[in-house]
Formats: sequence, structure tokens, C-alpha cells
Amino acid sequence: VGEQDAQYLVSKIRTIPGFPKEGIVFRDFLPLMADAKAFSIMIDALEKTLPVPVDDIDYIAGLEARGFLVGPPLAARLGKGFLAVRKAGKLPPETLKENYSLEYGDAAIEIEQGIIRPGDTVLVVDDLVATGGTAQAATDLIRRAGGQVVGFSFVMELVGTDGMKKLGELPTTSLLTMP
Ligand code: PRP
Ligand code: ADE
Repeated sequence: VGEQDAQYLVSKIRTIPGFPKEGIVFRDFLPLMADAKAFSIMIDALEKTLPVPVDDIDYIAGLEARGFLVGPPLAARLGKGFLAVRKAGKLPPETLKENYSLEYGDAAIEIEQGIIRPGDTVLVVDDLVATGGTAQAATDLIRRAGGQVVGFSFVMELVGTDGMKKLGELPTTSLLTMP
């Protein structure tokens, strides 16, 4: 992203100290989604900064809930299918489930069994990476289903939370680095 576009995107992110609990600086990207110009800059930039060649991707996977806002418009743009990685308890059986920790708690995610065929390649997309716990759990889940995670695309990367390091071996891009 160019400096001006990056500044514009950052100007649309709302910062809430102490949410959802003390010590967390919450970065809310819904105002960015609500702004037509920022939304369009974001999707263009994600397309331009794909961490792997577009032909190496079979599916875009998005992580509930905010990854469901970023993943589908990008998938449509790239001509790819979208895989929903849901919070536990939402999908009918049979599912594969993975427990994990994120910056402000513990959670579990699920995917439908059989939705990924062995060898399918997947780009994981989300609004933000903090500890990387969520993205790592999604990766483990997709691998257990027989898929191959080829990289990650994030809108924001939080500095000081080590998420990018944790996901280190795979190609990863983020549009904005947030303090
Ligand atoms: C947020 C965010 C990422 C995750 C990042 O999701 O959208 O998925 O946390 O944190 P991590 O890198 O420490 O794992 P959240 O679980 O709050 O769910 P939401 O999208 O439903 O708000
Ligand atoms: N997910 C994990 N950490 C977060 C933060 N600081 N702001 C918004 N979403 C998050």
C-alpha cells in the first residue's frame, strides 16, 4: 500500500483502549468497512499484495467473524471459492474442531468435514493478527482436513504480540502495522 492509502486506512480504524478487557488496545476495522473508499482501497491492496501467486491458491479461508468480511470480497475478486472457518458450535456435524488461545481469551473453531479435498491449497485471510493463535489454529484445522495452507493475508498486524513470528515459515502479508 502507498503511504497515502495506508494513512487513509489507518484513519478509519477506531482504537478502544481497555476493550474487551483491561490491558487490551482494541483495533476496530468496522469503520473502515463502512467507508466505501477505504473498503475499496483495502480489497485492491489485498489483491496486489497476495503472499503467493494467485494460481497457487484454490480457496480463500476466512475466520469468523471479521474474516468473513474480508475474505469473500477478496475471493470473488480472485475468482476463488470461500471456506468459512466458524466459531465452535455453529456448524452441523460432522466437523473438525481446534481449541486455541488468542490475545484476550480462549476459543475453539470448526470447519465442515469433507469441504476440503486432499491437496487443496488455501490462503487464510483475516482482519488482524495479534498473537497468531487464531491463524495458527485455522492452519492446524485445514491441515488436519488434508488441505495445504500456502500463506496468510491480514489487514492489520499488531506489533509486540509476536503473531507474525509464530506464522513465520509461511508467506504472510499485512497492509498495516499497528503499534
Ligand atoms: C479477532 C480477530 C482475529 C483474532 C486475532 O477475532 O478478528 O481473528 O482475534 O487474534 P490472535 O492473533 O491473538 O489470535 P475474535 O476472536 O475477537 O472474533 P470476532 O472476529 O468474532 O470479533
Ligand atoms: N484480536 C486480537 N487482538 C485484537 C485487538 N487488539 N484488536 C482487535 N482485535 C483483536
